[in-house]
Amino acid sequence: MSNSILVTGAAGFIGFHTALRLLQAGNDVVGIDNLNDYYDVSLKEARLQELDNFANFHFIKEEISNKDGLDKLWSEKGPFKNVIHLAAQAGVRYSIENPHAYITSNILGHLNIIEMCRHTKDFEHLVFASSSSVYGGNKKLPYSVEDPVDNPISLYAATKKSDELMSHSYSHLYNIPQTGLRFFTVYGPWGRPDMALFIFTKAISEGKKLPVFNHGEMKRDFTYIDDIVTGILGTLENPPKREEGVAPYRVLNIGNTKSENLMDFIGIIENKLGKKADIDFLPMQAGDVKETYANISETTRITGYKPTTTINEGVPRFIDWYKSYYKIGA
Ligand SMILES: NC(=O)c1ccc[n+]([C@@H]2O[C@H](COP(=O)([O-])OP(=O)(O)OC[C@H]3O[C@@H](n4cnc5c(N)ncnc54)[C@H](O)[C@@H]3O)[C@@H](O)[C@H]2O)c1
Repeated sequence: MSNSILVTGAAGFIGFHTALRLLQAGNDVVGIDNLNDYYDVSLKEARLQELDNFANFHFIKEEISNKDGLDKLWSEKGPFKNVIHLAAQAGVRYSIENPHAYITSNILGHLNIIEMCRHTKDFEHLVFASSSSVYGGNKKLPYSVEDPVDNPISLYAATKKSDELMSHSYSHLYNIPQTGLRFFTVYGPWGRPDMALFIFTKAISEGKKLPVFNHGEMKRDFTYIDDIVTGILGTLENPPKREEGVAPYRVLNIGNTKSENLMDFIGIIENKLGKKADIDFLPMQAGDVKETYANISETTRITGYKPTTTINEGVPRFIDWYKSYYKIGA
């Protein structure tokens, strides 16, 4: 039995930071990722290069929808008693153009991961990524894990809700401890090029038009990556207990529990870059929600999670990384 922690999506934004923190703490980490080209593959490779500095990191290029590949991984590097499953086809807007990618990675891939965990003796904990998008068009704020989430407004959200349901059934049937984490807009250094902070920083620094949807009338619970990683690892250490007749399963929100105006967020980027944004105000996009805001009281109670990074601290840290990574103004 391996003591390594498996991180899926290790070349991705959150997976990279999670693996890095685990390695810095002296854990053995096996990372897998298919390195797909949803966004710039060289950014994924650069993240992996950072992880390769650690002798206790092993990377395998693997596709989670390929069951045979996972069997091979488990027999050669595992079996894994602790799994942090972050690989997925992310993005709300892309799911409108590319629905099949979401079913392959998020549904079939998720099934394969829970199947592997099911067949692992003395399995301890699967922590997997869900999303705040499961709250869909809910009007009640802040979003709480007790709220009904039966009205997804994008296929991405529907796949994440399906993952939660599939996982619950496996926890119930096979007594596998699992926690689904509903992440709220994660940002920070090494962030995703398809997300707002990256798009805004790039457009403002290049003097290009900045597309802002719903005429800027949007609010987001922006969560800094270091807080997210602390939340993931605090969760991993606190698996739901195996009790007679109750599935060892839960879902938790991981947000900053502060809903920020998008225009204030843009203001911080402008200040840091010392440049004004040339904004193109556009209507609401299909599949998007106007506001997100997390109630994290359950997460704090169970894992001790308390986010500490404000957008005034976190956004400039992203911009410092962006400028150094892309050699801007050097
Ligand atoms: N970043 C956010 O704000 C946010 C918010 C809510 C939920 N999430 C979820 O958190 C997780 C991590 O997100 P992220 O922001 O790091 O995204 P990311 O796209 O940077 O990371 C996902 C990684 O998974 C890999 N991957 C995708 N499909 C795969 C497959 N079939 N097999 C193997 N690898 C595959 C990708 O190559 C990528 O490196 C995802 O499940 C995402 O849905 C993220």
